[in-house]
This record gives sequence, C-alpha cells and structure tokens, in this order.
Amino acid sequence: MEKNVIKVGLIGFGTIGRGVAKLFLNSSSIINKKAGIKVELKKICDLDIKTDRGVKLPEGMLTNNINDLLNDPEIDIIIELIGGYKPALDFVLKALNSGKHVVTANKALLSRYWDEIAAAAVKNSVEIMAEASVGGGIPILRGMDKGLAANRIEKIMAILNGTCNYILTKMTLDKMSFDAALKEAQAKGFAEADPTLDIEGFDTMHKIVILSSMAFGTRVKESDVPVEGIKGVDYTDIQYADEFGYVMKLLAVAEKEGNRADIRVHPVLINKKHLLASVNYEFNAIYLKGDAVGETLFYGRGAGEMPTASAVLSDVIYIAGNIAHGMTKKVPFIQERTKAVEIQKSGTAVSKYYLRFNVVDKPGVLASVAGILGRNNISIESVIQKVQDTHSKVPVVIMTYGAKEADLKKALKKIDAMNYVKQKTVVYRVVD
Ligand code: HSE
Repeated sequence: MEKNVIKVGLIGFGTIGRGVAKLFLNSSSIINKKAGIKVELKKICDLDIKTDRGVKLPEGMLTNNINDLLNDPEIDIIIELIGGYKPALDFVLKALNSGKHVVTANKALLSRYWDEIAAAAVKNSVEIMAEASVGGGIPILRGMDKGLAANRIEKIMAILNGTCNYILTKMTLDKMSFDAALKEAQAKGFAEADPTLDIEGFDTMHKIVILSSMAFGTRVKESDVPVEGIKGVDYTDIQYADEFGYVMKLLAVAEKEGNRADIRVHPVLINKKHLLASVNYEFNAIYLKGDAVGETLFYGRGAGEMPTASAVLSDVIYIAGNIAHGMTKKVPFIQERTKAVEIQKSGTAVSKYYLRFNVVDKPGVLASVAGILGRNNISIESVIQKVQDTHSKVPVVIMTYGAKEADLKKALKKIDAMNYVKQKTVVYRVVD
C-alpha cells in the first residue's frame, strides 16, 4: 500500500532531542517539501517525562516506555539520541531488526559496533544514517560520500570536537583557564555527558573512525587510532607557540597512500596561516583532499542543539524521500566495509616537533640537548630560551625540522634521563 505519511519515533529528549522536536514543530513545511511526503514526529521516549523542556508537544507524544516506539508498526524511522552503548545498541538493533530505518548521532556506538549495526541494516534492507555523529551541523558524511563520490580520499585533517576547540580558543584568545573554559562549554551544551570523552580525545577518535572508514572503504578500528587529548595542556605552551606563529588545536588526521593508512588524534601546533588555525570556539572544520577535487574545507558548528538537530533532520528527510520514491537501500549509506587497508604502525610518521625542555641554566646544557637530538637524526629549526629569575630551571623551546617519531622518542628518552633536566619534556607535533 502506498504511504502518504512517514512516522518518526525519537529516543532521547535531551539537548539534541529538544532541537529535533523544535524543528519538527517549526519547520514542517520545509521538511515535507524536501522529503516529497509528509513526515510526522509520532512519539518521543525519555526516562524523564516530567521536566519542562520549553517545547509544547501534542498530548500523549511523550512516553517513558520504549516499546511504544519499537513495537509501533506505524513508525518507519527511529531517531536514537541517548548516546552511549547501553541500552542504545539494543534499541538500534531492535529497530533495524523490526524493519525500521534508524538515524543516530551516536558516534561512540557506531565507531565500536559498525559491523553489527551495518550487518543488521543490510539484512533487513533498511537504512542507518548518522550525519550528526561527525561534525555536528556540517554535512560531511553526505558531502564526502556522495558529493565527492568520484574521488579517492587521500587525506583528512579535522577539528572534530567543539568542546576541545572551545577550551583551546578560550585559553588562547581570552586567557581563560582550562577548567573555566570546560565549564562554559558544558553549560552551552557542547560537551558529552562524560566530558572526559571530549578532553581525552576519545570523542574525536570515534568521529575519525567513522570518517576514515567511509573515506577509505575499510573498517578502521578504534585500536588502529593512537589518541592523545588536551587534558593537561599548559598555558605556557600556548604562549610560546604564539611567539613562533602557531596556535594549538586538537586534530584528527587520516592519510592514505596506496594501501597504507595512518590515522591518529593528538593536539598539534598549527601555523597561524593555515586555514584550520582560524577555526575557533565550538566550530569544527574538516580539510579533505581527494585525487580529483584536490583540497576542500567543510566548516560549521560541530556541537549544540540546533546545528546537530539540523544534521539529524537531514537524514530523516533523506530516508523519508527514499521511502516515498521506493528507493531505500539502492545504495546503502553505511555498509559493511571490507576493503583491506594496512594501518601504519606508529613511529614511522614524519613531523616537525615543538619541544619544551625544562633544564638547569648552566653552560653546556643546550649543546648537550642539541647533540643528542643531532645524533638521533633530528635537526633544529629554531630555539628560544626564556630567562627566569632563577637559574635552577629554565624553559628552552626548540622547533625541529621534520623528524621520525621513533627517532624523537629515542632522543627524548636520553635527554629526560640527564641530570640537568628538571621536568619531563613537553612535546607537540607541528603542522605548517
Ligand atoms: N561533545 C561533542 C563536541 C558534541 O564537543 O564536539 C558533538 O559530537
């Protein structure tokens, strides 16, 4: 029987859920027009059905019983916005196995359970889409997968966590402390329920796992991605980096050459002239290089209520349109990824480095440090030494030319064991 309305069930009435409900209420004409069929929010499920979210819902729409959504044969599309693994995975699999299409913003879930979720979608001939899982409101998954469909993606460099970017921007431009900036990001609704996922880099890792799996047609696993977050970033390094002409950003990097890929997440000092250096506050940006298109840059709000809701609704409209035109699963959006790609072992990557040594201020120290670096194939580009009132500890900042990670590790192990070193050396990769 031909449908004349697509019904949607929403699981999770938090910040993003509220944004999704607002869009359904305020933008129904554009949603229906773009989908080519009427799209209706039928039910919202949340454990908390008491708190007033400031959205006036029709009587009976809100429930705390998940079965009101999952067992309702009228509901075609389930939106999952509760985050985390449990019970989100059960709900998503149950929805797919009941023949419902699923839209999720849950990057942690997809990054870990891609295979199971994709297999259930394929088996049941339904779609699973996740535009909101990477880059908030930026249409990067669709943009990359469909807009750049004719390209081999060679490189991704991305700022993917609004909370971290907000913190680093506040520390740099407003000289705010790390803790105060984190509190502000949480209050603005950017942070994860557990903000350690943001600041320790795992949220960024989940996103680059999804992005690189789609980009390279393989199944990148979480264990393939070395992760360093921004916890413990010292304002001193932001200040010195500024003197060298660099700003600090948490970057996800994925590069592919031939059949080898190198994927990682870490803070970097990026040249102020680089486009990514001017991506500030909660904004995200994805720099992407394809073999045909060359360089592209996707920019927008990476977190927050309405930008993320915008991405969720784009998936709903896409699926509803496909249902209306009998086109679902012609080319499934998230598929099982089977291409064999070798993941490069860490240690071989070459990068410029920023090194802050904390050493005793006496003759011969700088020569010794430089000597150890030189004997490990690391060449120095520039040096600054900051004179302090005391000679017991002085910061010496060195910028290197391109060096192999393994060589640097060897050199720093030696240097940090010297008795003139007062504190472990601080290291950041540098991007020009
Ligand atoms: N906590 C995430 C961020 C939300 O700060 O970017 C969007 O995934």
